[in-house]
Parts: sequence; structure tokens; C-alpha cells
Amino acid sequence: MQGLTVRSPAKINLFLNVTGKRPDGYHELESIFQTVSLSDTIEFKETRRGISIATDHPNLLTDRSNLIYQAADLIKRTYRVKQGLRMFLHKRIPIGGGLGGGSSNAAATLKALNQLWHLGISLDELARLGAQLGSDVPFFIYGGTALVKGRGEIVFPLQINCQPHYLLVCPDILVPTKNIYQNLKKYLTKPSYYVSEIINELIRGDINKTRGFLHNSLEPIALRLYPKLKSVYKQLKEASPEGVLLSGSGSSIFVMCSSKKEVKQLANRLHSNLLKSKEKSFGKILSIKYIPA
Ligand code: C5P
Repeated sequence: MQGLTVRSPAKINLFLNVTGKRPDGYHELESIFQTVSLSDTIEFKETRRGISIATDHPNLLTDRSNLIYQAADLIKRTYRVKQGLRMFLHKRIPIGGGLGGGSSNAAATLKALNQLWHLGISLDELARLGAQLGSDVPFFIYGGTALVKGRGEIVFPLQINCQPHYLLVCPDILVPTKNIYQNLKKYLTKPSYYVSEIINELIRGDINKTRGFLHNSLEPIALRLYPKLKSVYKQLKEASPEGVLLSGSGSSIFVMCSSKKEVKQLANRLHSNLLKSKEKSFGKILSIKYIPA
């Protein structure tokens, strides 16, 4: 019986503008997605029949509600695969953190099974299948940096010319994406943010200028609904006035830096501020970097 182990990276959003509401209830987006070095690992072992999941995360369901079960089931049904599968998910990406962990796991499963079972499915077809599982899944089929539009199903991969490092703060706050979108209509941003500006700077490779164009329409809503998150955000802004942004619907917040050294200096500054303020709910501080496609 064959086996395969793959990495499943997290994403951050460097730009996220909600441009309208769709007839299907979802929202129309214009977003820049970026895969980063923080990742889960998934092991796949072929079995005679059925699909089973195990994980090292205590709060993760391993039944049909798990997106990797749904991804494996979708491939098996669509391509009439008779063999079964055992999967083990090593979870490192925080759940409910706006880092796309579940969607990334689903995309990694589609790609891994395409390889394991020699199905010869194109990336575009995998992305179309992935859209059935979640809005962010098509992006993770390609990875790297991409302009994402529609509900998330339109993905234009981008070749950027800089290699930012990021300080990532993962507060212990679970933010359900649906909750943020449901509150959006009250705070819809005016269409004064243009994705082309940040794309130009990413392609020119100017990290300092790119930082000036970071934007997330969901940020004011999340900060308003979750006061603990707002307090973390304020402390980050004090330590670094430039380059701070909520990822997706939160709760993770990142700071775009130009080097690992800058990330370290910022982390040290934060740690010493935290010692003074005795703030306990700040969350995990990680150093991550962009990964290309
Ligand atoms: O597609 P997915 O299940 O990942 O989306 C989670 C929730 O986020 C949806 O139920 C919807 O409320 C919201 N959403 C949205 N517009 C998008 C993506 C997600 O309204 N483009």
C-alpha cells in the first residue's frame, strides 16, 4: 500500500477589500493572498476501503465535518477511486485564526490524492473541485502570492520581487468568519482602496512602500466585536506603527517586516512591553516568512 506526506501552509491576506454582496449570500472580494512558512503536515496511507482521520490536535473533529475527509470523499466519488485512505493531521496552524488552515488542508489533500492515485487532474480542475469545499480552497491549490477575486474562486498567481518576513501574533481568540461577514453591511468601506497599488509595489519589490498599502475591510469589524483583539492590535501598533494588519477575518495579526532581524527586534520590544504591562492574553508570537508557489 502506498503513502505520501505533504506540508499544508497557512496564508495571510496582504489586502482584502469587500466590493459587494452576491446573490448566493457570499461576498465579492478583491484580495491578495500569500502562503507563509507556518504549516501543518498531513500523512496519507492507502488502505483497502473507507476514509479515516487521526490528529494530534485535541479539539479537532475527525468525522465527516473535517474538510480533509470531505476533500478525500470528493476525489473518491468524482474519479471513482475504489481504494481507501488513512490520514494523520499534524496541526500547527491555529484554528479560527484567519490563516486558512482548514482550507489549506483540503487543498493539500486534493493535490496529494491526485499524486498518490495518479489521477492526472490539472491544477485548474483541482481548484474548481476545491471551490465546492470552501472559498479559500482554490487559492491553496496554487499557493505563493495571488490576486483572488469573486467569492475566492478566481485566482491570478503573481510573481513578486521581495521576500518579506512577518511577525505573527496568534491571540487565543476564535473568530468565526461568518460572524464577521454578517456584521459587514453596517461598516462597508468606501471603494477608496485599490488593489493595483499594492500589486505594483510587490512587483517592484519595495517592502517599505508595500506596507503603506496593506488593507483589510474586515479589520474594523473584528476589532469592534472582539475588545480583547483590539487590545492586542493596539499594543502591536504601539510597537510598530507601520505594517500591522489583521489576517482575513482574524484573530491573527501580522506585521510585515523587511528582514528576520527586524522581526526579532520587534518581538523583543513586544516581550519587554508585555512584561511591563503584565498582559496575559496576548497570544503566541511567531516569526514566519513568505513562501513562493
Ligand atoms: O466558504 P467558507 O465556508 O470558507 O466561508 C465561511 C463563511 O464566510 C461563509 O459562510 C460566509 O458567511 C463567509 N464568506 C463570505 N464571502 C466570501 C467568503 C466567505 O460571505 N467570499
